[in-house]
Amino acid sequence: MVHSLQALGSDGIRVTMESALTARDRVGVQDFVLLENFTSEAAFIENLRRRFRENLIYTYIGPVLVSVNPYRDLQIYSRQHMERYRGVSFYEVPPHLFAVADTVYRALRTERRDQAVMISGESGAGKTEATKRLLQFYAETCPAPERGGAVRDRLLQSNPVLEAFGNAKTLRNDNSSRFGKYMDVQFDFKGAPVGGHILSYLLEKSRVVHQNHGERNFHVFYQLLEGGEEETLRRLGLERNPQSYLYLVKGQCAKVSSINDKSDWKVVRKALAVIDFTEEEVEDLLSIVASVLHLGNIHFAADEESNAQVTTENQLKYLTRLLGVDGSMLREALTHRKIIAKGEELLSPLNLEQAAYARDALAKAVYSRTFTWLVGKINKSLASKDAESPSWRSTTVLGLLDIYGFEVFQHNSFEQFCINYCNEKLQQLFIELTLKSEQEEYEAEGIAWEPVQYFNNKIICDLVEEKFKGIISILDEECLRPGGANDLTFLEKLEDTVKHHPHFLTHKLADQRTRKSLDRGEFRLLHYAGEVTYSVTGFLDKNNDLLFRNLKEVMCSSENPIMNQCFERSELSDKKRPDTVATQFKMSLLQLVEILRSKEPAYIRCIKPNDAKQPGRFDEVLIRHQVKYLGLMENLRVRRAGFAYRRKYETFLQRYKSLCPETWPIWAGRPQDGVAVLVRHLGYKPEEYKMGRTKIFIRFPKTLFATEDALEVRRQSLATKIQATWRGFHWRQKFLRVKRSGLGAPGYTGERGWQATGVGSQRSAVCGLHSHLHPVVVAWDAGPEEGSQAEVGGTDNPEVGSRALARGCRAGAMWGSLAIFLTHAPVGCTRLIRGFILRHAPRCPENAFFLDHVRTSFLLNLRRQLPRNVLDTSWPTPPPALCEASELLRELCMKNMVWKYCRSIRPEWKQQLQQKAVASEIFKGKKDNYPQSVPRLFINTRLGADEISPKVLQALGSEPIQYAVPVVKYDRKGYKPRSRQLLLTPNAVVIVEDAKVKQRIDYANLTGISVSSLSDSLFVLHVQREDNKQKGDVVLQSDHVIETLTKTALSADRVNNININQGSITFAGGPGRDGVIDFTPGSELLITKAKNGHLAVVSGAWQTTPASSLTASGLS
Ligand SMILES: Nc1ncnc2c1ncn2[C@@H]1O[C@H](COP(=O)(O)OP(=O)(O)OP(=O)(O)O)[C@@H](O)[C@H]1O
Ligand SMILES: [Mg+2]
Repeated sequence: MVHSLQALGSDGIRVTMESALTARDRVGVQDFVLLENFTSEAAFIENLRRRFRENLIYTYIGPVLVSVNPYRDLQIYSRQHMERYRGVSFYEVPPHLFAVADTVYRALRTERRDQAVMISGESGAGKTEATKRLLQFYAETCPAPERGGAVRDRLLQSNPVLEAFGNAKTLRNDNSSRFGKYMDVQFDFKGAPVGGHILSYLLEKSRVVHQNHGERNFHVFYQLLEGGEEETLRRLGLERNPQSYLYLVKGQCAKVSSINDKSDWKVVRKALAVIDFTEEEVEDLLSIVASVLHLGNIHFAADEESNAQVTTENQLKYLTRLLGVDGSMLREALTHRKIIAKGEELLSPLNLEQAAYARDALAKAVYSRTFTWLVGKINKSLASKDAESPSWRSTTVLGLLDIYGFEVFQHNSFEQFCINYCNEKLQQLFIELTLKSEQEEYEAEGIAWEPVQYFNNKIICDLVEEKFKGIISILDEECLRPGGANDLTFLEKLEDTVKHHPHFLTHKLADQRTRKSLDRGEFRLLHYAGEVTYSVTGFLDKNNDLLFRNLKEVMCSSENPIMNQCFERSELSDKKRPDTVATQFKMSLLQLVEILRSKEPAYIRCIKPNDAKQPGRFDEVLIRHQVKYLGLMENLRVRRAGFAYRRKYETFLQRYKSLCPETWPIWAGRPQDGVAVLVRHLGYKPEEYKMGRTKIFIRFPKTLFATEDALEVRRQSLATKIQATWRGFHWRQKFLRVKRSGLGAPGYTGERGWQATGVGSQRSAVCGLHSHLHPVVVAWDAGPEEGSQAEVGGTDNPEVGSRALARGCRAGAMWGSLAIFLTHAPVGCTRLIRGFILRHAPRCPENAFFLDHVRTSFLLNLRRQLPRNVLDTSWPTPPPALCEASELLRELCMKNMVWKYCRSIRPEWKQQLQQKAVASEIFKGKKDNYPQSVPRLFINTRLGADEISPKVLQALGSEPIQYAVPVVKYDRKGYKPRSRQLLLTPNAVVIVEDAKVKQRIDYANLTGISVSSLSDSLFVLHVQREDNKQKGDVVLQSDHVIETLTKTALSADRVNNININQGSITFAGGPGRDGVIDFTPGSELLITKAKNGHLAVVSGAWQTTPASSLTASGLS
């Protein structure tokens, strides 16, 4: 976590600050940390305003990105912008969402730690837009996954579907997300997106049945009516007019000019296909959407006993069909309530009000459960198809949290209470992580930690969530309590239990003055961001979220497959009351916090500039309110509590060394000492800065501003000098060219001519440049060894320099970039030359550029020089500083190739390799004819089925033959050679003579195999001696001895029982009689019975031995 914040904060954004400094008068500061008056809210807002006026919508607070919704297309999210913010360019570019995106991605890749981008802000501030831009950035800039490239499309296409079902037009936002969303994007080890997962939070389901004036229901209803095909609407029993549906007209704005439902529907339909929806699933889903609309049009009339009766038969008919439920059951469930008392079921009729309530509850339940199902379905489509592969284990995750910010309205209810509680939890996490990272950085740098005064909002979180005493517990208790519990009794209970809490207030508990601002049915929480007054009306009802049992029963019987998954029968038999809404929300939040805590955080705080959704309007009151509720001032205060600015010594020295004669142009010592000398020269006072282990910490922005101003002046004078030097060099080159070509104009000949051109005054500077150029050129041309000799002293002879330059140009890509430097950037050239001269010195500001250049070139070129296959061991030689990294990369590359290779091989080839690997394990370095066997493939079997006698096959019964090979068997007594077949079955080695099984050695009786270390092809199968049925060990010879033995060892599981002998092998020749085989090396295979009764084998040079050669050896 620390790293990420530091990566963003310390090295990334801080460098960006410097570019801000040069332009600060024009567009404020790019990082609020540099505001001199950082405690002033007015200064903060003024800075936002100045930048907003210039269309600069992004500003940092250290690592946090503050974004102001421009409400216009600023053309800042193009592919070019993405490229601009990728990789190194981050340091030199102004604040941007892509800068955060890229930094997060790089941290994910280089540190292999999971990341989370948390985006917050009030409705309409631009959270969802930011999330989409981030996703777009990753989809376009990350490498494509090797397989399953469609995951990128799925990630992108999940958005329109989720937005259709979860977003709606509200007064504050035409595309307002009515649920919280957390999305994980999984990246493989190459940084390609390979999967995703979405968690959704608290869908605002009350919108299904009611909308405030000027607001709409969820987009999907209007989209379907506008864009759905005639045939579809007919099937669903729908009219194309939203005005016909009561659930769509409550807000009286079904049509909105800024929304094109028809074209949006097309997008959604396509997206559904991308995320794996079958046509049937789409139909089932639309049936549900339509049934919600039909439910809204169900009317009731009261009979004589004031009991509700359904009057809209047509609607009931459609509902029955679309939901696949029993019509009479549904009718009854909509007008009755089932009560189970003393084990008996009673049906109690509902009055009009109760029936309408039941109908609405059903509509809400159907819709919200479908939404949850939809998220699950999308998750299935986003799940990596490669989850089982080894590479999956090395995936990293990038989380994107697009969640509601603090909500403070005129009238705040249960939903705002939940949302604001969520913000308290996230704030707590933010403080914890930010402070921790600051503290860890101080510790790492050996700087005393200076405690930061901040408000710890744990006390408010506890007030809401604590067991037994917290507001949620009390609310749940009231919901469960039998008897007359209602919203007001809940309020009383709250007053009783938490009355002394400093962050809780009610009308009764308030003092005289405050009481006026609180109604009797309200309570007020003093949130970390400010106070919010909640009306308790509806708290119990919303928290209970009851659906009558008989309605549940009907839905459980639904034949619509989606409904069937949404309403499970087990729910009916489950005696345990389901968790209340607040408790479920609390649990999911705790889980979310844990997910986020395990990742490195990055923050984006979104602000909306006006309520009218207009570009260019900066409503100060509205913005002040958001700055307060987003906790930005507190955020800045924590960030600025210690030091406003911190930078690595190398970077600081590199930037400012020209301000001190002792450090300019080269500081040869440690960068830290150079910085000490530099700041002393600049007159920094001790209280203005601290020296850490690797960084300098500057307390006040003004110190930095003064240094920057000095640098600006110094740059001007340096630029003049460099220009003069370069011009001198340029003219001298021109002069020499003219001189060599013999076309010298009078004023261009010889030294006098040179002087006559009027550039003679710069000659010494040119020579100086040359004396540095020459050794670099020669060195590159001559290679490192010669180069180091050549650098002793420069030369004044320009011709030597230019020849060498020409040769150097041929020296490859490295030289190419050097040449570009020489042509375009005299400053870069000097740096490069200095760096080269000092390349063997420890890293210092003077050689850092050169070393980095060499490193970058090596890494960039590497990808063109990678080994081509697993057997290719070539690898370019790295520069010394990259030896370790190069070795790691080489290993990685090899692993990757091996992994790829292994995945691509066919099963037969795999088996071949496995057998070869076993052969290598047994024989490599131990038996002389093993090497010759390596390039020869092992054959499945060396005898076809037609070469084995049917009688033998019959004798083996159902036992399959796994391998068969012709062999020669030597009699145990006279060592006569006999032609035989050796068969391997799953259970035994079988020796066959023509049509007869001569010997069967069950693997259990095969105690070992002996073979000599020489290049002969004899071997002995040792057989369990106690077994009387066995005739003794078997002496055999195979032309494919390595193959035969490997297969035998594998089949019999005797890989570890192969004895490779030198000299001789003793074997059991029969009961009580041992035989001996003596092996001696020789040029030709010769197998004879020796005088001492042993079998004497002279092993020839390895070759297949045809039967005829056996005859020739005189053994037959
Ligand atoms: N960076 C941006 N550039 C241009 N327009 C933007 C940008 N961000 C937001 N908008 C505009 O503002 C509207 C609202 O933004 P968005 O839907 O992202 O808000 P939100 O914070 O997600 O709100 P809610 O909490 O209601 O979901 C967008 O539909 C778009 O028109
Ligand atoms: Mg949104």
